[in-house]
Amino acid sequence: MPSFGIAEQVSPIRTRLGEGPRWDAEAGRLLWVDIEGGRLHAGERTVDCGAMVGAVAPWAGDTVLAALRDELAAVDVGDGSVRRLAPIPHGRPGMRTNDGACDAAGRFWIGTMSLDEAPSAGALYRYDPDGTLRTVLTEITVSNGLGWDAEDRLMYYIDSRTQRVDVFDFHAESGELENRRPFASIPAEDGIPDGLAVDDEGGVWVALYGGGRVVRFDPDGAPSGEVGVPVPKVTACCFAGSRMYVTAREGLFAVDVPYSGPPARPFGGTPRTS
Ligand code: BGC
Ligand code: CA
Repeated sequence: MPSFGIAEQVSPIRTRLGEGPRWDAEAGRLLWVDIEGGRLHAGERTVDCGAMVGAVAPWAGDTVLAALRDELAAVDVGDGSVRRLAPIPHGRPGMRTNDGACDAAGRFWIGTMSLDEAPSAGALYRYDPDGTLRTVLTEITVSNGLGWDAEDRLMYYIDSRTQRVDVFDFHAESGELENRRPFASIPAEDGIPDGLAVDDEGGVWVALYGGGRVVRFDPDGAPSGEVGVPVPKVTACCFAGSRMYVTAREGLFAVDVPYSGPPARPFGGTPRTS
């Protein structure tokens, strides 16, 4: 498979579980999290969230939307304040949020998993700009990467335990999903599919946890190349133009690739100023 390069470590921050890089284009900075360390990183700033933090999305100015272990919160990365917004209706104890992202309409999609990865204990939820939280999928084991194609007609989704990337037809206006089907399968010896990012040409980049790389799949699901990472537990990736940021359990890496991708979509709610 062609190599698009090797990612190099770009931050001195050592994480317990580095995850969820998102390019915040408006603020011109990278957001990412240390899930198990409970820390959120925004450019040069770090916020201790006081709880595990599964995912983060840009919102407005210094306010970001964070998925804490059991609730959604507005975090001000300027003063470090954390304001609770909505509890996650976990069906049982010992759960936490995992990967999450906003679609083009500013709806935040957030998945969960059991801390012990108990089969089917997790779910996928959707938090709308008006504050409504709904359950989208149940019987998920490790809810992970999600992303949309440039035309907003497809949503890609990974439940890591399936060893697959699935794809849904996506109805941008209503946010409804339909017709779930396999997009690509990952052999277990290649690693566990984790986070994903979709490029401007419709390619789907998938971080392989335990596999030490990010693999790109063409829109038809055929693997077309890869980025190497010098550590095995690669968790997620995102684009900042043609620069790809890659998180691994230990920290943050980056590499320039011959493709570009969109920045993270911001959450569409109205931020309360206080
Ligand atoms: C989860 C980890 C898990 C990994 C591979 C990550 O998104 O946060 O806990 O080990 O995926 O399944
Ligand atoms: Ca992940």
